[in-house]
Amino acid sequence: CRVQQWDSEEPVPRAELLAGVAGKRGLLCLLSDRIDREVLDAAGPGLKVISTMSVGFDHLALEEIKKRGIRVGYTPDVLTDATAELSVALLLAACRRLPEAVEQVKNGGWTTWKPLWMCGYGLSGSTVGIIGLGRIGQAVAHRLKPFGVKKFLYTGNRPKPESAAEFEAEFVSLTRLAEESDFVVVTCALTPATQGMCNKDFFSRMKKTSVFVNTSRGDVVNQEDLYDALAHGQIAAAGLDVTTPEPLPTDHPLLSLKNCVILPHVGSATYATRSTMAVLAANNLLAGLRGEPMPHELLL
Ligand code: NDP
Ligand code: DGY
Repeated sequence: CRVQQWDSEEPVPRAELLAGVAGKRGLLCLLSDRIDREVLDAAGPGLKVISTMSVGFDHLALEEIKKRGIRVGYTPDVLTDATAELSVALLLAACRRLPEAVEQVKNGGWTTWKPLWMCGYGLSGSTVGIIGLGRIGQAVAHRLKPFGVKKFLYTGNRPKPESAAEFEAEFVSLTRLAEESDFVVVTCALTPATQGMCNKDFFSRMKKTSVFVNTSRGDVVNQEDLYDALAHGQIAAAGLDVTTPEPLPTDHPLLSLKNCVILPHVGSATYATRSTMAVLAANNLLAGLRGEPMPHELLL
């Protein structure tokens, strides 16, 4: 292959992408590249395959891609463990107030041992609700179970008894999940149906002592509603690995809250995982260019 590469960790500027993609047969992109009609038009009819170095594909205009007969590769499975691990880390950081506690050590707020100081909420005996019991959702539940979780709830498009069996997880409505969970973990895909799903109504049903964690996509959450819920004590805390927009502006109101832990979309960020994702994305692209089955093709 002859390769034209944007050789930087920074996202390719839109104009460079539009100019660079012209006449190409294949495109390897990242989740930060919006591949829409404009890009597809700029590429022209020769574009046969798009390979994204991500499992999420909400940045791809799938209808338009399908219409043009373009094949799509993506990177499921290889990042499941890393993302589930990070989800658990984020949950623990939020519920046990780790960033706040570290800050107290640094700024002299730690004066002595005090009975109620820096108390949070623990997993033992809790009810955990998973929104989207897919690959990552199951891997999160698998990791949380040994913490002594009493009950798992999940919601999604339909009950998945085989996936739920290991955790004896119960399929419930979104409303029931909000009302009964001590911890809510969002691991679903971003779709028109999940966009803004965690909103004012959702947060108002959660317990005041509950913790909300999102490692899916920022747009699943209505951030103004989350801010209000956190600021007014409607819920106890939140941990977000994904936001809208990304990066979140440093003066964003959510960053002023002590009970909100925000990470910069690092769910899959282990060296080994990113390396495997990159190789898989390249192999998907090559297979697509050769007209062979891809290691992981998104069936449109
Ligand atoms: P899967 O396809 O295995 O799981 C997606 C889940 O979303 C499915 O269980 C599906 O439920 C659920 N879902 C779809 N629609 C709804 C709905 N309306 N309500 C509730 N749940 C719904 O994907 P993965 O687990 O591999 O990845 C999930 C997402 O995580 C990715 O799409 C990506 O956005 C995000 N991600 C984030 C990372 C990060 O760095 N923070 C890293 C990797 C992924 P059902 O099975 O019932 O259809
Ligand atoms: C994905 O793959 O969709 C994640 O958001 C980054 O690994």
